[in-house]
Amino acid sequence: MAWKTGITRLLSIDYPIIQGGMAYISDGLLAAAMAHSGCAGVIASGGFSTDQVLEEIRRAKDILGPGKTFGVNLMLQMPNKDDVAQVICDEKVPFVTIGAGNPVPWLEPFHHAGVKCIPVVPSVKLAKRVQHAGADALVVEGMEAGGHDGKITLMALLENVLPEIEIPVIAAGGIVDGRGIAAALVMGASGVQMGTRFMLAEECRLHPKAKKTLIDAEDTDSTVTGFTTKDSVRGLKNSFSEKYLKAEYSGAPLSELMEMAKGTTRMAAVDGDTENGFVLAGMSLTHLTKIQPVEEIVEELIISTEKCLAGAPHLI
Ligand SMILES: Cc1cc2nc3c(=O)[nH]c(=O)nc-3n(C[C@H](O)[C@H](O)[C@H](O)COP(=O)(O)O)c2cc1C
Repeated sequence: MAWKTGITRLLSIDYPIIQGGMAYISDGLLAAAMAHSGCAGVIASGGFSTDQVLEEIRRAKDILGPGKTFGVNLMLQMPNKDDVAQVICDEKVPFVTIGAGNPVPWLEPFHHAGVKCIPVVPSVKLAKRVQHAGADALVVEGMEAGGHDGKITLMALLENVLPEIEIPVIAAGGIVDGRGIAAALVMGASGVQMGTRFMLAEECRLHPKAKKTLIDAEDTDSTVTGFTTKDSVRGLKNSFSEKYLKAEYSGAPLSELMEMAKGTTRMAAVDGDTENGFVLAGMSLTHLTKIQPVEEIVEELIISTEKCLAGAPHLI
């Protein structure tokens, strides 16, 4: 049976599970599979040209037909952000997640086009600011998450943010199964955003070698580059991260670090070079052991969340 939370109501979905935008790898096919499973998927704009974003939006629409929910992630550090925003408005994408910059000026134009706005925020201050500016919901993303990170854990973020915020809050970072989903809901979140778990979806275009690396990874295999330069990116330890971190912690100039990191996400995700590229992934790794269709992943998530929640009243 479908669940009812602030997020399921806002997005007209059955389960408050959102597959987060993932640069280079979350496309219209993955988003459509999420929608078919009663959840919501997000098409990335990071790593895609504006035309590719449009293509993926149309692909999701073609597979899904009218009335099904999916979103697009707008990365504000991307040079083509204005064009992507225009495409999102023109195509009347149901919702947008907005990260890596100040989302406030973008809310009004999206709302004008009928697009719901869900900024991704790393602090109470920004959460309050986007709520005040009219965001429909927000994602709090802890430093456990794969990709670009803040500096606060999800647990601490939820403790800090939830009492201050009335709009629906979506928890992200390190959630890979029903335990994490149940915990977030019990704390007061209205839903979750997950990335790493869906990297192992059959429908995810991540290079098979990167999928294999993820399956082989354990809890201690996660690392963060750029922590000292305010550009934290979480991924799996390898030759690249070792070389980068050595340079970072011996005080290499920012320009040198940027040059080292250039193209490494694509190299791993698209070309399958998992040693010289960077496989972005979150911290919860040990129990990611197989590639599955989205439908099966979602079914497992729902069953395990309901089991955890059913046991919750008996815990004390
Ligand atoms: C491979 C990868 C790429 C990502 N790319 C983006 C991105 O382009 N934009 C964004 O806002 N978040 C990005 N994220 C973050 C996810 O949308 C999501 O919030 C995060 O994966 C949640 O944490 P988890 O990986 O522990 O589930 C990315 C995450 C991963 C794993």
